[in-house]
Amino acid sequence: MDKIIVKGGNQLNGKIKIGGAKNAVLPIMTACILAPGQYKLTNVPNLKDTRTMSELLRRIGADVTYSNHSLIINTENCNTPEAPYDLVKTMRASFYVLGPLLSRFGISKVSLPGGCAWGPRPVDYHLKAFKELGASVELDSGYIIAKGKLIGCTINFENVSVGATGNVLMGAVTAKGITKINNAAREPEITLLCEFLNLMGAKIKGLNSNTLIIEGVDKLSPVKEFEIVPDRIEAGTFLIATAICGGEIELIDANPDHLQTVLNLLVKAGSEINIKDGNIILKSNGKIKHVDMETEPFPGFPTDLQAQWMALMTLADGTSLIVDNVYADRFTHIAELTRLGAIISLEKNKATITGIKKLKGAEIMSTDIRASASLIIAALVANGESSISRIYHIDRGYEKIEEKFRSLGANIWRKSDRN
Ligand code: EPZ
Repeated sequence: MDKIIVKGGNQLNGKIKIGGAKNAVLPIMTACILAPGQYKLTNVPNLKDTRTMSELLRRIGADVTYSNHSLIINTENCNTPEAPYDLVKTMRASFYVLGPLLSRFGISKVSLPGGCAWGPRPVDYHLKAFKELGASVELDSGYIIAKGKLIGCTINFENVSVGATGNVLMGAVTAKGITKINNAAREPEITLLCEFLNLMGAKIKGLNSNTLIIEGVDKLSPVKEFEIVPDRIEAGTFLIATAICGGEIELIDANPDHLQTVLNLLVKAGSEINIKDGNIILKSNGKIKHVDMETEPFPGFPTDLQAQWMALMTLADGTSLIVDNVYADRFTHIAELTRLGAIISLEKNKATITGIKKLKGAEIMSTDIRASASLIIAALVANGESSISRIYHIDRGYEKIEEKFRSLGANIWRKSDRN
């Protein structure tokens, strides 16, 4: 299996174009099932997860082609309302097809997603909401079979859930009557999904808020062309990497409004941030102030940058606390950061990081998409060489990450087992 090799110590300088948001394009790809016809999505990143979702749409009967960061999806001939285990087990976001399949076909057979590297990933909020909307929901040999015509109602999510909000939205847009979603996710990716659905003819109000009102419609139509927003998590990853390595980078296309909490915390930790023509510029001398951080649903600090922030705090000028309020068990990166010399203790969902002077390169192992990014960040600043294995995790969510870092001056390359 391929590895990423890093020789630490270089500063990061230059401009980097941020790609389209993985967590925006995945639900939007499933929304194309709702109305038969041809769709073009642009600024689509070339990732393992977008290729997996394309394969899932093909299994459902769609025609999907990808070239030059654009997807052409034709769902005219979709005829198989099923998401098979072999695909769902590799990517939890496959579960997003439940709502669209139920909307279009009145039936949906979707494999229950397994857990992931850091623990169980339940879908009970999704299932409870579809039952409340009038669907029959049964579990049969690991598959969820949902059937029936949906009738609008009020859905109260006990916790904010990005996936459940997206899935229920795609069921509610053609339900009979009005659906109100309380405690809805308001991540930029969900707002973009609402914009896409409204362009299809849906009637969704309350965008950018935690309360969405959906008036069901009888007919939706395809969207000829739609651009995916930049990936705020990829942007945050490069900002945090530059903060710890030192240097000055300009992110092309990143949207500062999607990262306000992260930018504020980076300034508190010692970086200088400016916005020029809508682009984010970060300057750092590599000296890190210790700053406590807690993850929260948007607009709070995103859990998908928690591991990267932890890498930053390993070299801070004191002790810092990180609390993950979204995933209590998302800490598999601690063991690997420790191999580089980091001093981190964990108590339930609270990690305490004692800042040290230097990390030392070592052999380390990726465990999930964002943990991998955290290890690359730590390796970029560590003394000596690090070798990161199981990088198939990082290829799920970052396009050519080592090439992008190399273009900023990092000494990083991919070593294939084949050569
Ligand atoms: C989305 O996952 C993202 N994935 C995740 O990014 C992200 O970490 C997460 O939202 C939180 O922002 C995609 O968008 C494809 P949730 P999702 O439902 O929708 C609990 C990445 O690295 N919950 O918002 O699965 C859940 O266990 C990935 O790009 C239930 O209990 O997350 C968690 O504690 C990783 N029951 C919390 O809610 C449910 O039915 C938030 O999960 C659903 C969720």
